[in-house]
Formats: sequence, C-alpha cells, structure tokens
Amino acid sequence: MEIIRSVDQMRRRSAELREAGSVVALVPTMGALHEGHLSLVRLAAELADAVVVSVFVNPTQFGPSEDFERYPRDLDEDARLAAEAGAEFVFAPDVSEVYPAGFETVVHVQKLTRKMCGAFRPGHFAGVTTVVAKLFNVVRPNVAVFGQKDGQQSAVIERMSADLDMGVEIVRGPTVREPDGLAMSSRNAYLSPEERMDALVLHEALEYAERLYRCGETDAALLTDGMRTLIESAKTANIQYVVAVDAKTLEEVTELRAGVMFALAVVVGKTRLIDNVVLGGTERGRETRESRDDG
Ligand code: PAF
Repeated sequence: MEIIRSVDQMRRRSAELREAGSVVALVPTMGALHEGHLSLVRLAAELADAVVVSVFVNPTQFGPSEDFERYPRDLDEDARLAAEAGAEFVFAPDVSEVYPAGFETVVHVQKLTRKMCGAFRPGHFAGVTTVVAKLFNVVRPNVAVFGQKDGQQSAVIERMSADLDMGVEIVRGPTVREPDGLAMSSRNAYLSPEERMDALVLHEALEYAERLYRCGETDAALLTDGMRTLIESAKTANIQYVVAVDAKTLEEVTELRAGVMFALAVVVGKTRLIDNVVLGGTERGRETRESRDDG
C-alpha cells in the first residue's frame, strides 16, 4: 500500500499503471472508511488490476453551517482498511494541493442538482462534481465506483462523465446496512442512542414502500405519503424530502416500475441522513446487510 500525498506523484503512478496496461479503478471517499466504503473497494478490485482509494474531505461540498471541521479523519486507519480490502494506493492530498491559490473553476451539472439534496444543500453538488472531475483528471481511472446510498450523487456523476466525455465507467455499488437496517454512513457516529433508534424509520419507510410495490401497488404518491406518516412517528426525525424518481434521470414518477428509486433525506436530531431503495434492485445486485453472526 502506497499513500500518495501529491498530485504530481499520483499522476506519475497512474501513467506507469496505464503504460503497463493495467485497468485502474478509483474509489473516491472522504475517509472514515466503514464497511460501506470497503464493499466498494472490493467491487473495484474485482473490476480492475489496480485500485486507488482517494481520501479527501472536500471543503467545497460543505455548507458554512455543516460538519467540515468535525468530519472524522484518520488516514492511517483508512489506509490499513483500504489495503485489506484490496487497494494498492491511497491518494490523500492536502486541501492546498487540490485547491491551490488562484483556483477558480467549477464543474456544474445543471438540472439534476437542483432537486432533492441539491435543494437543501446549495453548492454541494458543484463541490462534488468539481473535486470528482479533478480526481478523474489526476488518477485517469478506467472505472470509478460510487455508493448507491448516494443515489443522486451517482446520477449526477454519471451525467458529468458522459457530458464531458471523461471516458470513465461509473459503477454503483450496493448500499451496505447495519444488522438493524440503518444504511452505513460516517455520520451515523453523530447520533445519540435515542436518535439512533429513531433513525431506523428511514429504512422502515423504504421497506414499507418496496413491500407494497412487490404486492402490486403502483401509485407512487400513495406510498410516499405512507412513508412520510411512518417517518413522522419518530420524535427526533424531520423530513427534508421523500420522493419516487427514476434512478438515472431523477425525474419524479407517478407510476411505479423497476428502476424507480424511493429516496429520502431526514434530519434526525441534528444529523442529516439520506437513504434510498431502487425497485428491482441496483445494477450490481441487491444491497447487503452486515450480519452480527460471524459464522
Ligand atoms: O461521497 C463522497 O464521499 C464524496 O461526495 C466524494 C464523492 C468522495 C467527493 O468528495
């Protein structure tokens, strides 16, 4: 495992890999790696000869009152976990390396970023697409793996990569859940015990919608209303949005079918959580749930 801190060094390494004919996969992360990230690294290792995990807490995607300062950081532990999961390189540049003095370019996907999380986090997706475009330019991967848990982010990056002819195949890895169903997220650590219990309504609401769809219900509004009622029953939960959209175009749907994503954002206590489920499963298979039972 090699930890690379500079853009120049990363460029040199990726040029060597390409010259050697290796297929390179990139797994972009902000660190604080958990099983959700590690499943993406394992998937990347199946798809490529060499896996680069980027670890960069990207300041431009955080709003002024968000958690940039307190976002958990532990590079040594991240590098150890990434290596165990099959990565050869961790690219962990400093902020000044990514955004040197005079930096002023922004990559902006226009329509897909206006709705859902974009409506509540102005500027967030411009920060994401700008940094991901930079990572793609430096690492020059053949394939990049993102989590389906950030379903809107995946759709936005697929759009950017196609629109700008980046030539990077974007793969969505399935959501990994705690044994009780909560989607894994670095931000789950912020939840108090009471909030952690209340946070289960996110998954319960998605399960409710998926179950009724499987029983033949196709009315999207009926199910999103039911989901809202369920979520509102949790004392510390405040809904930002609950939608049924096409998983790729993010267009709202009225009639349910395979490929529709139920997606939600809920603030539990002070922690903003997102989750989603795609009807008919994600492209790379069903989401996985961690088992407490090692056997
Ligand atoms: O999903 C994330 O962790 C971040 O948004 C990403 C893609 C690494 C960009 O900073």
